[in-house]
Amino acid sequence: MQRLIPTLRRDQVDEALISVINTLQICAKEISFRVHQGELAGVLGSTLDENIQGETQKHLDVLANQLLKDILLECKHIRAVASEEEEGIVSGFEDGKYLVAFDPLDGSSNIDINSLVGTIFSVLPTPESNSGKPDMFLQPGTQQTAAGYVLYGPSTMLVFTTGRGVRVFTLDQKVGEFLLTDTDVQIPRQTSEFAINMSNHRHWQPAMRDYIDDLLLGTEGPRGRNFNMRWIAAMVADVHRVLCRGGLFAYPWDARKPNKPYKLRLMYEGNPMAWLVEQAGGMAHSGEQRILDIEPTDIHQRVGVILGSADEVSTCLGYLEGSQSTKRNV
Ligand code: F6P
Ligand code: MN
Repeated sequence: MQRLIPTLRRDQVDEALISVINTLQICAKEISFRVHQGELAGVLGSTLDENIQGETQKHLDVLANQLLKDILLECKHIRAVASEEEEGIVSGFEDGKYLVAFDPLDGSSNIDINSLVGTIFSVLPTPESNSGKPDMFLQPGTQQTAAGYVLYGPSTMLVFTTGRGVRVFTLDQKVGEFLLTDTDVQIPRQTSEFAINMSNHRHWQPAMRDYIDDLLLGTEGPRGRNFNMRWIAAMVADVHRVLCRGGLFAYPWDARKPNKPYKLRLMYEGNPMAWLVEQAGGMAHSGEQRILDIEPTDIHQRVGVILGSADEVSTCLGYLEGSQSTKRNV
């Protein structure tokens, strides 16, 4: 079975980028070990602090963030990192070729119930400006040079793309190495499975409600077939399922907080997942435009997400485009 670094060399990935990915997999093994230790690691439970997004931080989020920062910033090819858990960016080597944005522990409400969590990352080139400021990260997702996630499940998996398809590596716990287990992930165009937090139904725009309502009508509705629903409440795990067997995943616009109508973050959730999904033949849209084309204005900005099996995403977008109702009519 092939190991990670030889696979990257065979793909003719730039040596500096190989070094960045190698550093990411070292972080992944460290975090994986602690996640799998669970209660024994003595890190579970909430801290008294809140992170910059106003959510309760768990000890393991803090630890994962610290590990990623400490280990990544020792890599001489990394100019700076941006994290969900850090308000600003953290600088590394001034002549580093790459920037890394990450969500250290996605789905962290799952920690306390021993359920799925993961680390999501996006690697961007350092722009010519090399300003040392957050604006270095404000590049559309099309500029990513590598993106992926680590899923800390029953097995630990590293799933990423460098623009040559989606590769899946599984951590061999015996030898401590990531081994290639899938070389070219493909999302089926059609699906009968969707993932959305249904409890937000009344807050969605009417066209989104119409789309989901038609899925629920199954054989008795306009879709003429039954749909199944899954919701793990960790984007990393829900998107992993979509990559494995297809499906539609959505966290769309909702009216709960008028100044914060989206939940997911563009730079370290939307963009890396959108690129993976597109590389696997799927589609990823914000409800207004292709996610990868969005020109970011803030490292922590939020984005609508509708991604997965291409035909189903198109069907969903058809409802949104065809609707006369505005989001304000909710
Ligand atoms: O990072 C935000 C996140 O935890 C995602 O991983 C997940 O998809 C979503 O929020 C879960 O949201 P909710 O709490 O509405 O189920
Ligand atoms: Mn997250």
